[in-house]
Amino acid sequence: MRYPAIAVALVTMLALAGCQSMAEKTDRPESLYLQLGERSGIASIVEDLLYLIVEDERINEQFSGVDVRQFHSNLTDQLCELSGGPCTYSGREMRESHADMNVTDTQFNALAENLILAMEQNNIPTGAQNRLIKRLVPLYPQIRNL
Ligand code: HEM
Repeated sequence: MRYPAIAVALVTMLALAGCQSMAEKTDRPESLYLQLGERSGIASIVEDLLYLIVEDERINEQFSGVDVRQFHSNLTDQLCELSGGPCTYSGREMRESHADMNVTDTQFNALAENLILAMEQNNIPTGAQNRLIKRLVPLYPQIRNL
């Protein structure tokens, strides 16, 4: 299975940063959630991500007509749960919600890039950014509908 370049690069960076994360004892499941600023911090990251998506011509057309409130709430819950927080994602399965979109590698990378930018804007440490991206990599085949 082929993974997008950004995912491969980030996982490699993660491997290289392994010593650092061990030193910080950030492998505990709940610590990523805390580093992201708990649910309110994640909600703020997702809000900034939405502004970036609207400005990004590689992906904004896909989002026309989307219920922004619902998307914001569901994505926040999903990232909260994935980061080890006390949330339950109650939206649709990734394969189902992206089924008819024909999401390309370029678009997947664009969204990941915007998420990283949004985390930068919220002063999330690089190690925590990488850990969240790593947890999103398994969703790649579902979102690409492979
Ligand atoms: C890591 C990558 C991604 C994650 C974690 C993700 C996550 C999500 C989540 C949680 C939802 C809400 C599902 C629901 O409400 O039931 C959603 C919906 C959606 N996603 Fe993604 N997504 C990703 C990539 C993409 C990409 C690359 C595109 C297009 C360029 C995209 C376009 C959409 C659209 C348009 C919706 C709204 C669907 C609807 O309301 O009918 N997503 N995504």
